[in-house]
Amino acid sequence: MRILVTGGTGFIGSHTVVELLNENYEVVVIDDFSNSKPDVVDKIKTITNKEFKFYEGNVCDKELLQIIFKENKIDAVIHFAGFKAVGESVQKPLMYYRNNLDSTLTLCEVMNANNVKNIVFSSSATVYGNPKGLPIKETFPTGETTNPYGATKVMIERILKDIYISDNTWNIALLRYFNPIGAHKSGLIGENPNDIPNNLMPYIVKVATKELKELNIFGNDYDTVDGTGVRDYIHVVDLAKGHIKAIEWVLKNNGIDAFNLGTGNGYSVLELVNAFKKYNNVDVPYKIVGRREGDIGSCYADVSYAKEKLGWESKYDIEDMVKDSYNFVKNSTLHM
Ligand code: WQD
Repeated sequence: MRILVTGGTGFIGSHTVVELLNENYEVVVIDDFSNSKPDVVDKIKTITNKEFKFYEGNVCDKELLQIIFKENKIDAVIHFAGFKAVGESVQKPLMYYRNNLDSTLTLCEVMNANNVKNIVFSSSATVYGNPKGLPIKETFPTGETTNPYGATKVMIERILKDIYISDNTWNIALLRYFNPIGAHKSGLIGENPNDIPNNLMPYIVKVATKELKELNIFGNDYDTVDGTGVRDYIHVVDLAKGHIKAIEWVLKNNGIDAFNLGTGNGYSVLELVNAFKKYNNVDVPYKIVGRREGDIGSCYADVSYAKEKLGWESKYDIEDMVKDSYNFVKNSTLHM
C-alpha cells in the first residue's frame, strides 16, 4: 500500500512517516518546509533505514499534485499540511483561510480525478471550542471556535463530510488531536519551532536550555486543580501510531467518522512544568501572568471511541513526554 503524506516533514507528519515506514507502507511525501527543515527527510531515512519519495512543494500547487498522482499509485492520503499557530491565525486570517482551505480543496479535487478516495485528516480538539462538558466526546457540538486556525479545521471537516454525502465511496477519518508533545526516542526528530513558540512545551524547553529567560504562565485563576490551564497532552509517537490505525480503518471502506486522539488524562500547566523539572533534573523559571485571550480552562478527551473503532490507545506517560521533548532539543543542540 502507498500512502501520500502532505506535510510529512512537520512535527506530527514526520513521526507518522516513521511509523508508516516501520509498518512497511510505501510512502510519498509532499512538503514546502514552511514549518519544518529539509534535514528531516534524511533523519526519517536514518531512523527507519527505509527510502521514500519526496516532492518539495505546496499542496495548493495543482500541477504538482497531478504529477505526484501520475507518477505514484496512491492508495490513501494523510493530510497534515496546513498552518497551525492559533495566535498567528488571528493576526493573518486571510493567509490561514487561503492556505488551509485551498490546499485541501486542491488535494480533494486531484484525489477525486484519480479515483483516490481514502483520506485521514489532521483535525484538532480546537473544533470543540469551549466544550459543553468533560471529558470531551466526539458527539459534542463543534464549530464555536475562537480563532481562524480552529475555524479552518471546522470548515475542512465540513468540506470532507459534504464530499462523503455526495459520494459515499469516500472513506474519511477525522482525527481530533489534543495537545501533541514529546519526540521520537532517537532524538533525531521532534518539535523545535524557529521563532518564539506559541505552545507550552516548546516554550518550556527553550527556558530549560536558557534560550529564553522564563516561562509566562497564562493565568492561575481557572477552576482547575491549581488554577492553571488543564490540557490532554499526548506523546507524538502515540499520535503517529493512531494514524496507522486510521489508515487501516479507511482502507477497510468504513465511510466517514471522527476520533479523539488523546490520553484521557488532563494535566495543568504547573503539573507539566513540575514533571519536566523533576524528570529532567533541570530548572524552569516561571512567573504567573494574566490569562491568554481565547484560552479555555480545561480540555481533555474521552478516548473510548478510538479504542473501540480503531483499536488504538495511548501508551506513553507524562514522564516519557517531558523526557523525550528535552532529549530532542539537547540532541539537536549537540549536532548544531
Ligand atoms: C497549553 C496550555 C495555555 C504557552 C493549541 C491549539 C491546538 C494545538 C495545540 C496545533 C494553556 C498554557 C501556553 C505559554 C502558558 N495546535 N500556556 N504559557 O492552546 O491548548 O492548543 O495548540 O496543533 O489545536 O488550540 O496549546 O500549548 O498553546 O497551551 O501558560 O507560554 O499552556 O494557557 O493552558 P493549546 P498551548
